[in-house]
Amino acid sequence: MKAAVYTQYGPPEVLQVKQVEKPIPKKNELLLRIRATAVNSGDWRLRKADPFAVRFIFGLVSPKINILGSVFSGEVESVGEDVKHFKVGDFVFGHIDMSFGSYAEYKCLPENASIALKPTNITHNEAAVIPFGGVTALHFFKKAMIKANQKVLVVGASGAVGSAAVQLAKSYGAIVTGVCSAANFDLVKSIGADKVIDYTKEDFTQNGEIYDLIFDAVNTISVARTLKSLTKNGIMILSAAGMKEMLQGLWISMTSNKKVMTGVISHKAADIIFLKELIETGKFKPVIDRTYPLEQIAEAHAYVERGHKKGNIAIEV
Ligand SMILES: NC(=O)c1ccc[n+]([C@@H]2O[C@H](COP(=O)([O-])OP(=O)(O)OC[C@H]3O[C@@H](n4cnc5c(N)ncnc54)[C@H](OP(=O)(O)O)[C@@H]3O)[C@@H](O)[C@H]2O)c1
Repeated sequence: MKAAVYTQYGPPEVLQVKQVEKPIPKKNELLLRIRATAVNSGDWRLRKADPFAVRFIFGLVSPKINILGSVFSGEVESVGEDVKHFKVGDFVFGHIDMSFGSYAEYKCLPENASIALKPTNITHNEAAVIPFGGVTALHFFKKAMIKANQKVLVVGASGAVGSAAVQLAKSYGAIVTGVCSAANFDLVKSIGADKVIDYTKEDFTQNGEIYDLIFDAVNTISVARTLKSLTKNGIMILSAAGMKEMLQGLWISMTSNKKVMTGVISHKAADIIFLKELIETGKFKPVIDRTYPLEQIAEAHAYVERGHKKGNIAIEV
């Protein structure tokens, strides 16, 4: 089968499209024919081993996993004998755990992985870009127990996680302000934001507004300065937090009424099913900036690494 393979950490060109062996499903697995995947912000960090700590998990000298890609949309090509809930021909989409491997024509996954039937009203390219941002935003909003009429600020509202956070917060009935550049005002308003703030011109911590929830999707805020923009029992979600912000957050949560949430998201099929239903009722829409064929995966990585994509980058396999 065709796959984008990397055997050393480095620039986008380390990704080479070549022929590799097609996987064979185990008894409890589905063999998926991947039709589309996406390049997400985490993918280029793994490709480059940036930060260095990536090497402690994924291989000190060279990557132990050679095919990246954590999301997919495609078709069930065959099933192992114990598989009960999916059948050959089902269109499915989902999120892969730490095994990655969706930059390829085929991937085997256990049937209890984060998989659901693809929403009927969107294409494979559109479905593939949903899980990364969607599952991340959903994980944190559930943890924060978001409620209708809460005031929510989303920083990085034009990115993959941010655009999902805006739409999910609206679907819960929140009043949403998106922080983005003026070039992305139309996009962020089109996905439901009630108000937008241009981060290049205005510091939201200085305008006197306070929020029940502040969701920073791109790790660009000052945690200390942002505290005063939270209500008395407000919650700050730092989905892209580094070690410094995690420690700051822990301290704030331990010593005040305010809470800071950080950490790595979990993978659950229930979350993918929830997103499917939201899409089918028109409350959540895929945001695609560009689409590349798998052969141009290196170009797609270079674009994502610049940090200015609008929503998501789909890859046609
Ligand atoms: N906790 C977890 O388990 C988890 C899960 C998934 C992702 N993450 C992390 O989440 C982070 C975000 O991922 P992503 O894919 O959503 O990012 P992304 O799509 O690459 O973000 C790009 C967007 O951010 C905007 N942006 C850049 N600087 C900004 C600023 N100062 N203020 C507001 N917007 C700004 C850019 O707009 P302009 O072009 O206008 O600058 C662009 O539209 C990554 O670091 C990823 O590792 C964590």
